[in-house]
Amino acid sequence: MEKQFFFDADTPDPDRVDGRAKVTGSARYFAEYTLPDMTYGVLVTSPVTKGRIKALDTKAAEKAPGVIAVLSHLNKPSVPGYEAPPAEGRGPGMRIFYTDKIYFNGQPVALVVADSFERATYAATLVRAQYEKEEFRTDFDANLDKAVAPRAPGAAEYKRGNIDAYKNAEVQLESEYFIPTEMHNPMELHGILAHWESPEKVIMYAKTQGVKATQQTVTNLFKLQAQNVQVFSEFVGGAFGIALRTWPHEVATVMAAKMVGKPVKLVLTREQMFTMVGYRPQAKQKLGMGATKAGILTGITHEAIGQTATYDEFTEGIVNMTKFMYACPNVNTRYKVLPLDVCVPIWMRGPGEATGAFALESAMDEMAYRLGIDPVEFRIRNYAETDPQRNQPFSSKYVKEAYQMGADKIGWSKRNPVPGSMKNGDWQVGYGMSTGVFTAGRGGATVRAVISDDGMLLLQSAVSDIGPGTGTAMVKIASDLMGMPFEKIRFELGNSSLPPAPSQGGSSTLSTVGSAVNDACLALQEQLAILAGQKTFAGKTKQDIVFSNGRIGLKNEPASAIGYAELLRQNNTPAVEVTKDSRQGEAARKYSIYSFSIHFVEVNVHPATGVVKVTKIVSVGDAGTIVSAKTAASQMIGGAVGGIGMALTEEAIMDHRFGRYVNHNFADYHVPVHADVPHVESLFINKPDPIINPMGAKGMGEIALIGFSAAVANAVFHATGKRIRSLPITPDKIL
Ligand code: MOS
Repeated sequence: MEKQFFFDADTPDPDRVDGRAKVTGSARYFAEYTLPDMTYGVLVTSPVTKGRIKALDTKAAEKAPGVIAVLSHLNKPSVPGYEAPPAEGRGPGMRIFYTDKIYFNGQPVALVVADSFERATYAATLVRAQYEKEEFRTDFDANLDKAVAPRAPGAAEYKRGNIDAYKNAEVQLESEYFIPTEMHNPMELHGILAHWESPEKVIMYAKTQGVKATQQTVTNLFKLQAQNVQVFSEFVGGAFGIALRTWPHEVATVMAAKMVGKPVKLVLTREQMFTMVGYRPQAKQKLGMGATKAGILTGITHEAIGQTATYDEFTEGIVNMTKFMYACPNVNTRYKVLPLDVCVPIWMRGPGEATGAFALESAMDEMAYRLGIDPVEFRIRNYAETDPQRNQPFSSKYVKEAYQMGADKIGWSKRNPVPGSMKNGDWQVGYGMSTGVFTAGRGGATVRAVISDDGMLLLQSAVSDIGPGTGTAMVKIASDLMGMPFEKIRFELGNSSLPPAPSQGGSSTLSTVGSAVNDACLALQEQLAILAGQKTFAGKTKQDIVFSNGRIGLKNEPASAIGYAELLRQNNTPAVEVTKDSRQGEAARKYSIYSFSIHFVEVNVHPATGVVKVTKIVSVGDAGTIVSAKTAASQMIGGAVGGIGMALTEEAIMDHRFGRYVNHNFADYHVPVHADVPHVESLFINKPDPIINPMGAKGMGEIALIGFSAAVANAVFHATGKRIRSLPITPDKIL
């Protein structure tokens, strides 16, 4: 079968398949579902940061109007998965309502279920708890000496060549970087609607990045048959990593639904979104960098300490990029975690690398200025043609072309490189750039494809779409292969009963599920060829048959071609169905497979007020074939928006007297608004990666953000001569 892709950046891309449903309100998110006899859950949370619940008085709440039950550690139903001893290695975990222990401020201590949300909210205020308080530690800066090696194997140290070789270099640099705790803040709040249809069967409408993951967790915890645990999550209103695990409040809701024998819906408040569903952990980093006067790197040492929780360990690859981004003979990294009495962190867009890239790419800029070399040129002098960490080729890497493309677009060569030299009226003008990288993963997924005699192609997979446009990209892949228009193809997702797929995370969905769509379409063509051999093209085999423009015909006989629907009707077959599993082959292991991004920004800095405005953005993605130009561009725009927040405004601030966040709302935690975001130019190399998958496409969700904050910090330096190594770059740091 001939494969036909029509990925052409100049052809206008079709609209998102679910765009209309989303903007007209017909797309239904978990909280919009209702079930007969539904009840509402509201959480009571701990105002204490560490200790135990001494007494819990729920009587007044239980007597309040409309209240059906108050669930807590005193009356919880049995959760078999919580009875077992904790798993080795990661800490005891948070077994909601299975202990009187308080691990962090804002931890749920009770769940009130009532016949309306308002009544449950009121009754929750009537629950009285007494706590035995213990001394707690939440202050990251004050406890850095208590950081420990992570239990996760292999995460602590890496070395190539000599340790701390930068200390012997001709030109040396030693800098410290800080990024604060950042909150994901998707538009859609977290929560779940759970209903036990029988003592053995539970259904859930959830906000999740993985319907199969949620199914697995609940199956294990409640010792059920997987097919009796159904999870629906057709639309997800943003996540950025926050829905990559099943959180305690979700388990609590499933417990409550079991207890009251009715559906229970629970939706967190925005304030609770800051306290119990993770965040990007704050981190302190030290970068030691050495180079020759000619600008050749001789040594990099990258050390990081990231925040984690006492009850559960979270690790991320903060120092990973440093190991392979540049051709440097001596590299060593050290990574530690600091367990504090806080909620456990969770991956947030560009997890690890976004933090690490801020340090590495700021240091690269500092070193370039110290050497008197253009920052782009410095990177090119240290370009890694092959992966220096694993000593093997990259599957594809067009980063030199990407530097050039971005530099040309923003007018890099026209700037005056002297810091503080450029002006726009009262404003100082600066240009900065950085590199980003993330693993381009491909897992295994299964897709079912059904083509029917009404001319429709149905594709099914239990994947989630948290917003990148997965459905659209999958339809595009099928559309190109089958030669069928978008409107004839439907991609069904967000339902755990569909063929299995991994969670949407780590920029791997397009690669993983897209490959299965590709393989399913090819398998479908084979079946259609066999069918055609029965009657339409009697006696012919697949070698004689070609597919072109949505039609099937005989080789060299264009007039013989007919549409799929007609083929099915001619052969008295209502539908042809195939199910294909697709995963990465062994051969790919010989390659290092990464997606890359280059960010160029222009900033204006107001010298009197310290205000920084990002005025131009050019982001270049080297992510293989661009399957869907429109959704790919949207990814880059979203990454830039998140990157502006990370660089300039976002910071969760905790009052360590109480162990509580003080800016747990959108008034005080500042995410970028439209006025903060200029037009985002997103450019793509758009050259297929020959190794990763049949489409040649690599993920791009993470690279859209990774490195962006360094580009802004580097631009601020160019504008002002001031090097700011602590995010966010607020006006007080400029002045
Ligand atoms: Mo992401 S942090 O892979 O949702």
